[in-house]
Amino acid sequence: MGSIRKTIAVLPGDGIGPEVTRAAVQLLQDCAAAHDHTFEFRELPFGGAAIDAFGKPLPASTLAECRAADAILLGAIGGPKWDALPLANRPESGLLALRKELGLYINLRPIRLHHALQGISPLRPDRVAGCDFEIVRELAGDIYFGAHELHRDNGHSRARDVADYSSPEIERVARYAFERAAARQGRLASVDKANVLATSALWRKTVTDVAREYPEITLEHLYVDNAAMQIVLRPKQFDVILTSNLFGDILSDEAAALAGSIGLIPSMSRGSGEGPALYEPIHGSAPTLAGKDVASPLGAIYSATLMLRESFGLNVEAQWIESAIDRVLDHGYRTMDIAEPGGRIVRCSEFTDLIRGEMHDALVHTERYGWGV
Ligand code: IPM
Ligand code: MG
Repeated sequence: MGSIRKTIAVLPGDGIGPEVTRAAVQLLQDCAAAHDHTFEFRELPFGGAAIDAFGKPLPASTLAECRAADAILLGAIGGPKWDALPLANRPESGLLALRKELGLYINLRPIRLHHALQGISPLRPDRVAGCDFEIVRELAGDIYFGAHELHRDNGHSRARDVADYSSPEIERVARYAFERAAARQGRLASVDKANVLATSALWRKTVTDVAREYPEITLEHLYVDNAAMQIVLRPKQFDVILTSNLFGDILSDEAAALAGSIGLIPSMSRGSGEGPALYEPIHGSAPTLAGKDVASPLGAIYSATLMLRESFGLNVEAQWIESAIDRVLDHGYRTMDIAEPGGRIVRCSEFTDLIRGEMHDALVHTERYGWGV
């Protein structure tokens, strides 16, 4: 592939967000330099940091720059400092507004157990080895985007959250999940609560209708309570899981724990059009770790390699970075959250430098012998 030129909006956000995005940006810079690409990074205020500086979590200028970018890299948002704010003014509302404004209705979360990290999974190796599936979470509807009300009623407080889905909203994300399954092992598990919820009954009917367009895909339906259990009982049964916004939020944290740490899992949020996709680690802002240089940068770095593959089609470059990570892990280096007995614990910045060192060594080798040798 020839040289490309891309603009990447970088939203470091809060807590450990700035340190982990710094690591990912360094690797992307190395990637651009080594492969003759031009990545222009625009760092933008977002989340709690933007509330402090501009009074709102998603300033108009941040949204405009995101729209104009080729891809967006986000760290994490939120923290105790902003927890007392009303829901509509919190950092999280900025993230929901960004998803909505950019039409990001698909959220992809790959769950893969790194072979060197099997020991840190809470599941026995025989249950979890080889676990490799993807969660496709609907991201622009459901109870997240219906009315959220809290009011006084007859001397009591009463609250209400409205869950809402239309069939076109379900169809479009279902199509993406079927395509994803078609590119993998051809198995799709759709998760709902159709025995209780109207939105889930519509979900199940719509996914079943869409399935007629994909006769080669094996579709099964699971209730969410059963799905939560199956993920810990037999995670290897899954290829692609499709689910609604709230269930996807919950199941993806559960699934991430199987891979050893939520700090390892990246995500992509995208729409169907030409607009930019957003990449972010699924871990939160981890306020207790912030500023200590101890967080794992891997969730952010895997988000960057997902960006290289999915938004820019740079598979060789993504593989180059991921192979370097494999070697660093194989050599026994660990950040604190993925520490194992006998492992060598390093800081976030040291871990990043080790990866960069491996990338550099591979490059020197490649310049001599060519890619793929
Ligand atoms: C996630 C997060 C967000 C969500 C929060 C921060 C609003 O938990 O991306 O999984 O619930 O979608
Ligand atoms: Mg979540």
